[in-house]
Amino acid sequence: MKPLLIALALTLAAPMFAHPHPDPHQPRDLRDVAKLHRIAIGSAVDIASLHAEQDYRKVLNREFTHVTAENAMKWESVEPERGVYTWADADALVENARRNHQQVRGHTLLWHNQLPAWLTSGVADGSIDAAELREILREHITTQVKRYKGKIRAWDVVNEVVEEDGSLRQSIWLTHLGPGYIADAFRWAHRADPHAKLYINDYNLEWNQPKIETTLSIVKDLKAQRVPIHGVGFQGHLGIQYDYPGDWANVMRRFADLGLEIAVTELDVRMVLPVTPDKLATQADYYRRALADCVSVKACKELTVWGYTDRHSWVPGWFEGEGAACILDENLARKPAYDALLAVPRRR
Ligand code: XIL
Repeated sequence: MKPLLIALALTLAAPMFAHPHPDPHQPRDLRDVAKLHRIAIGSAVDIASLHAEQDYRKVLNREFTHVTAENAMKWESVEPERGVYTWADADALVENARRNHQQVRGHTLLWHNQLPAWLTSGVADGSIDAAELREILREHITTQVKRYKGKIRAWDVVNEVVEEDGSLRQSIWLTHLGPGYIADAFRWAHRADPHAKLYINDYNLEWNQPKIETTLSIVKDLKAQRVPIHGVGFQGHLGIQYDYPGDWANVMRRFADLGLEIAVTELDVRMVLPVTPDKLATQADYYRRALADCVSVKACKELTVWGYTDRHSWVPGWFEGEGAACILDENLARKPAYDALLAVPRRR
């Protein structure tokens, strides 16, 4: 009689197994993804949209655990005239992040682009000499890092300082200050906020061999001189017309082996327009692989997308005929890429 009862009970219970409850570990949004992998999931923020578009703001604050200012912390934005600082946008971004429990990446202290005209023209016409330029840079880094002391988890201290051929980038910094400007920048930033993680950040570092080797040797040199450098940022501007950078996780590991944190700082995956379902599927796979690569490396702490919606993306303005690079469409509807990020399994 007893085995019969058990059989009956199992038969009655069978539908429960046929319709399992949803897996409680299956992420339902990007904050769940962040929790599952114990990394930050971020987006670049377009400050005008943050101010003006309620739906944009709502999705940003709901989905992301991290933000980076797309432009609001660049030199031309914060000091458009010499000695005249305009912090309102950057402050608003940091304050919005605080209210929504989001970490902030500061982007960026030193770059060759988006410098204010007073600086570039002063250097060009000789009215700012090398000694003064060095002092201007020290002052800029110190002032900006101090302003957000304790509020910014990580700074992109130097951005894009290596050329594609592996030489140091020709910029006003290299030309007038010599290669030592990189160590100086890190030291000044560290002095201004000793707790902030200090990063070197670049594009094509996912696959470009000369760039990888030079960046590794910059890091080794800085470490040998006891310069405070804590992380390397891979921008991750990808396009589906190129192969996925298949060795990326190994490249990340080479930097991690030097003791650095890793972050994917500006991920987007563009395509040649028009959009097709096939292209969206390939794009989704690139996003999935980027997250899988990051979570396969213990030192990888953050994956940030360079804009989360095709409504606001730098791609159409910078790459002719290309676009649709983000994980949500213009109406903030989820694309296959969004779902692909939810599906990445936890690392074992
Ligand atoms: C881009 C912004 O997205 C644009 O809005 C701006 O006009 C130009 O800069 N690498 C970087 C980012 O480090 O700062 C760049 O952002 C994209 C490439």
